[in-house]
Amino acid sequence: MGIPDEVVRTLRDARHVLVLTGSGASAESGVPTFREAQTGLWEQFDPHELATPDAFHRDPELIWRWYTWRRELVARVKPNPGHYALVRLAELVPKLTLITQNVDGLHQRAGSKDVVEFHGNLFQNRCISEDLIVADSDTSTAVPRCPGCGGFIRPGVVWFGESIPPQALKTAASAVQDCDVFLSIGTSSLVWPAAGLAETARDNGAVVIEINLDATTLSERSDHHLQGKSGELLPELVDYLTL
Ligand code: OAD
Repeated sequence: MGIPDEVVRTLRDARHVLVLTGSGASAESGVPTFREAQTGLWEQFDPHELATPDAFHRDPELIWRWYTWRRELVARVKPNPGHYALVRLAELVPKLTLITQNVDGLHQRAGSKDVVEFHGNLFQNRCISEDLIVADSDTSTAVPRCPGCGGFIRPGVVWFGESIPPQALKTAASAVQDCDVFLSIGTSSLVWPAAGLAETARDNGAVVIEINLDATTLSERSDHHLQGKSGELLPELVDYLTL
């Protein structure tokens, strides 16, 4: 499927593009998504057992094993052409805000700047007692401890039932008011509050473009739904913009 001319024109005329990415944007790098049948992480593992504060209090060792597995997986993979296309897109439009629900750091490794990490970062550690980011910690132990207070350290990701980092929320709230194009990439648009951003942007007059392998709950409410892989469609789209 090609890229409709109108999508190219919309992006060419854009003043502020707000991009929201989800796990589908990293799928072609080899990072599993969450809800896809057979391969999604939440199809194989119970999020209540692994991605809640209660789960950590119940069994911190299990949680660390799971996150160490995910860290090692992500450390082995590389950004894909979709990540790199977003770096180029940022150079082609007057303003681009990149918000990601992904915790893998692949946008940054591709070269994207000022990435807003809505759900935190897999490689960041936080002390649970002081709620501070801990730069260095001894990860050779089963559950690392804070060098400052000796409390348990947890992965710096947002778990179910937890709040979005306030600065990320603030940036998102202002970007949805200001953007004239909203680009949703590789997300099922099921997890709130991220799922509500497209709707708010649309209510404020932004054109909503979705790039996804499948139809989602957002597709019918998008102005354009481009069905396919972000690692293929995004480079194609950005190539058109440079013609
Ligand atoms: P999902 O697993 O819910 O959705 C992934 C989406 O990516 C699906 O709609 C797929 O069709 C699409 N997809 C897969 N491969 C693709 C590709 N190559 N190109 C384009 N699209 C592709 O994952 P998310 O929407 O990211 O939260 O999930 C949102 C949040 O739920 C995650 O950030 C995580 C999870 O629980 C936390 O951990 C807090």
